[in-house]
Amino acid sequence: MYKLLFDLVFKKMDPEKAHHLAFFWIRLAASVPGLRQLVRLVLAPRDPKLRTAALGLDLPGPFGLGAGFDKNGIGIDGLAMLGFDFVEIGTVTGEPQPGNPAPRLFRLVEDRALINRMGFNNQGSARVAARLKARQHTTSTPVVGINIGKTKVVPETEATEDYLKSTRALAPYADYLVVNVSSPNTPGLRNLQAVQVLGPLLWDVRKAADEVTHHHVPLLVKIAPDLADEDIDEIADMALHLGLDGIIATNTTIGRDGLLADPARIEEIGMGGLSGAPLKERSLEVLKRLRARTEGRLTIVSVGGIETAEDAWQRILHGADLVQGYSAFVYQGPFWMRRVHKGLSARLRASGHPTIADAVGTAKSV
Ligand SMILES: Cc1cc2nc3c(=O)[nH]c(=O)nc-3n(C[C@H](O)[C@H](O)[C@H](O)COP(=O)(O)O)c2cc1C
Repeated sequence: MYKLLFDLVFKKMDPEKAHHLAFFWIRLAASVPGLRQLVRLVLAPRDPKLRTAALGLDLPGPFGLGAGFDKNGIGIDGLAMLGFDFVEIGTVTGEPQPGNPAPRLFRLVEDRALINRMGFNNQGSARVAARLKARQHTTSTPVVGINIGKTKVVPETEATEDYLKSTRALAPYADYLVVNVSSPNTPGLRNLQAVQVLGPLLWDVRKAADEVTHHHVPLLVKIAPDLADEDIDEIADMALHLGLDGIIATNTTIGRDGLLADPARIEEIGMGGLSGAPLKERSLEVLKRLRARTEGRLTIVSVGGIETAEDAWQRILHGADLVQGYSAFVYQGPFWMRRVHKGLSARLRASGHPTIADAVGTAKSV
């Protein structure tokens, strides 16, 4: 049914407009008394066996929505209603900003992929914090991660202060906090992945988060798939050294290899981060590398090219404590989460592992 809707409506629309329309419907459904519970009942039934713990949090399952879909935290309940076990909002920057000029989101349907150069369009840390504060007393509160990044106009040398502004405003409302240094769409941002810069930045964010909260807010860093393998190892070592809680791998890629789409079209689209199916292989590779290096001492959230329950299950077996998806949600629609959960549940039961957490990183013995 969603395929029909996608082919007849969304595919013909500008991708960003389609996103806003779909997100509007999701929020509308979640705001109608009774409907939210009904939709949730249909789309989000979960096997209690999928319940898992990670980052000191109790989650109904391991499968969350990646950052970027809900940049401003306006539709958290609607997204949880559709079945995501946790929702990562953002990227939020210190200051509000419009992002890059449109068009800035493109579909490569034949590749089941997206290219985006949104450029962190968001309402800024103060406004998003006020929104999260206002929903503190709502009854349904899924686990919410907050992903923070650098405001475009802030020079790289002043990046820390911008991240700290977001941290101070948002950490009190975060179940976990993510320092995003891996978007290809903010000039210079990925330079912050160099460990000499990243280490002090994460250290300062950690301190600032501790100053504004009474409890430990888990802190993670989100990395790019385009890093060299040695850089991944260095970041893993640094994360362990700093006592970071986890790593999210990966963000979108600047690579364009192996695409089926017409090269002229890809050329015409131009700059941006590629996500979806073409990212699958590299994202899995990065996960394996991180797991080998950290041996279960860090929480790893694997994201990039996850389309099926089998994809998610393979990530878990190869060391992901949690998984996330974004692009496949666009292509597969609101029943996607249900399918993934059902498939995960079947695989977990067939594996003989009592819980998801027991299955994490067991790939070699399976
Ligand atoms: C339109 C779009 C916007 C995104 N915006 C962000 C963002 O603001 N911050 C971020 O950390 N990742 C962002 N991402 C990256 C996703 O969170 C995810 O890491 C990436 O898309 C790979 O997962 P996927 O293959 O399941 O889409 C965005 C992805 C897309 C497609």
